[in-house]
Amino acid sequence: MQLKDRVAIVTGGSSGIGRGICLEFAREGANVVVADIQEQPKRGKYHEQDVVTTTVVEVEKLGSQGLFVQTDMGEEASIHRMVEQAVSHFGRLDILVNNAGIYVVGDTQTLAIADWDRIMNVNLKALFLSARFAIPYLRPSQAGRIINIASVHAFAGGAGPAYAPAKAAVVNLTRDTAIEVASDGVTVNAICPGYIETPIQDYLTQEQIDDCLEKTPLPRLGLPRDIGRAAVFLASDDAEWITGIALPVDGGWLAPIGT
Ligand SMILES: NC(=O)c1ccc[n+]([C@@H]2O[C@H](COP(=O)([O-])OP(=O)(O)OC[C@H]3O[C@@H](n4cnc5c(N)ncnc54)[C@H](O)[C@@H]3O)[C@@H](O)[C@H]2O)c1
Repeated sequence: MQLKDRVAIVTGGSSGIGRGICLEFAREGANVVVADIQEQPKRGKYHEQDVVTTTVVEVEKLGSQGLFVQTDMGEEASIHRMVEQAVSHFGRLDILVNNAGIYVVGDTQTLAIADWDRIMNVNLKALFLSARFAIPYLRPSQAGRIINIASVHAFAGGAGPAYAPAKAAVVNLTRDTAIEVASDGVTVNAICPGYIETPIQDYLTQEQIDDCLEKTPLPRLGLPRDIGRAAVFLASDDAEWITGIALPVDGGWLAPIGT
């Protein structure tokens, strides 16, 4: 077990990628705080249609302890409470995974300004706030880790005027925070997923999903588990000398010239 007895917070852990990360962490022996706006898993139109049990129930089936903390990553006070509740329940904190994120369809002419603000708050500002509150607890850990979930859209446009810039900023926030905490042995890395089968994809048409598969060199779309395994690696002792990186986990989507 690579994460035995470590304590992790995973934001957006009830569904999708966050749930996949919680389960892989639990498989590796970590105790997991599932921080989400809702405890029940989302059910997607295309993916995860049949998910019923909460993430905490699944974490406990794997022999680890789980704790659900109702959290709105758009609210500073809620993020502060998330960190404090995690530490008061488990007595320490080793890993923070900033995964919660939202997508709203729209371009510069159609995206509501309130939605632009909401995307920036949840997908970017929340990562600064959670780092602010968690770092004092991560510094004394023997294996302090922050893992930020960005996107392949960090490196290109095509996902709207808020989502793509927020994800690009997450990559640079990752580098900046990595420098800040490096002297304490805390690492800070980003994972940049390609198309992963989760409920966030509900806004797409089947045709658009087929197009994503065509653009993915490996012969399938991604699963939450694929991101979960990459997160286990970055959280593990094997990755103790890796910091400030943005790791694409995308089935090769970014590899061809011209993408
Ligand atoms: N699925 C993909 O293809 C893909 C690709 C690249 C990046 N990502 C990123 O991965 C992360 C997870 O995406 P997903 O596909 O699992 O999404 P999802 O919509 O399937 O799940 C997101 C989870 O976050 C929770 N959440 C939403 N707003 C929240 C808030 N304000 N506070 C707390 N929790 C909140 C939801 O309740 C849900 O459980 C996001 O940051 C997303 O941008 C996803």
